[in-house]
Amino acid sequence: DWNPGNVIAEQVERIRAQVGDARVICGLSGGVDSAVAAALVQRAVGDRLTCVFVDHGLLREGEAEQVERDYVAATGVNLVVVDAVDVFLDALEGVSDPETKRKIIGREFIRAFERAAADVVEQAKEEGGKVGFLVQGTLYPDVVESGGGSGTANIKSHHNVGGLPEDLEFALVEPLRTLFKDEVRAIGRELGLPEVIVGRQPFPGPGLGIRIVGSVTRDRLATLRRADAIVREELSAAGLDGEIWQCPVVLLADVRSVGVQGDGRTYGHPIVLRPVSSEDAMTADWTRVPYDLLAKVSNRITNEVAEVNRVVLDVTSKPPGTIEWE
Ligand code: XMP
Repeated sequence: DWNPGNVIAEQVERIRAQVGDARVICGLSGGVDSAVAAALVQRAVGDRLTCVFVDHGLLREGEAEQVERDYVAATGVNLVVVDAVDVFLDALEGVSDPETKRKIIGREFIRAFERAAADVVEQAKEEGGKVGFLVQGTLYPDVVESGGGSGTANIKSHHNVGGLPEDLEFALVEPLRTLFKDEVRAIGRELGLPEVIVGRQPFPGPGLGIRIVGSVTRDRLATLRRADAIVREELSAAGLDGEIWQCPVVLLADVRSVGVQGDGRTYGHPIVLRPVSSEDAMTADWTRVPYDLLAKVSNRITNEVAEVNRVVLDVTSKPPGTIEWE
């Protein structure tokens, strides 16, 4: 019988055998997989694990705190937080093209992570230890998709970004390699991780950076973050989290439309709601969210988010649409 407690015990033994007395490093993204993988390794090796969280400023409301505060409280893990918000926003300044945004975000992420990893390696040396391993939250479907290979990797090759030195070589620890997503969630719950992390719906690595159609600025991020928080709050309150695979909320920063508020005319930006139902994100259909709920969300966003004067619903399936707008 499959049981999260048994899997945890088995993985803890395996990780201990693999790692020996070396030290281990792990990047946390705010998502389920890295959070559960790190928690398993922490169970196995305790303080010899150091987690690195690169705060790029592109997460949603509350998500950085969920890692920095709640995850640390739940696991007691050693966490290094890299505040890279200025670096990311500077690098993204004036960039509207989606793939260019992805490249910049990927590149800056590697740079920030690699710098932090080098510090961890250095500190370990000073203390007479050695960092030999990098934790990856690879799941079974990822293994199948990539043909089953494993072994050693450096940060660069794993993230598929070129142009960096290859001096940070680690063997991989992949404690989720035999597991499916729902099993990973069950293990996370058994390990006592915060439900907001364990239950999180898919969220793209480039984060809100690819949910602003137009260039990314602090103000636009603040606007989108507020609208997104309202949507998530209302969908959850309505009990729709199980039915909805994910619901991108998109700010059309380069579009303005005329509206009216009180005695005055407004000229604000639209917010797009993109609730989708899906099995695997390869295909998707738009979720038939109840009209009353849409009305409530629309009222709240246009009342509470100053820059937004219009809310629209995306009713496109995938294909031909993608789930994200960029
Ligand atoms: P699309 O928009 O291609 O999205 O239908 C399919 C799934 O992938 C997610 N997505 C990404 N995830 N980096 C990621 O880690 C990305 O650049 C990226 N783009 C899309 C999307 O949220 C959906 O779950």
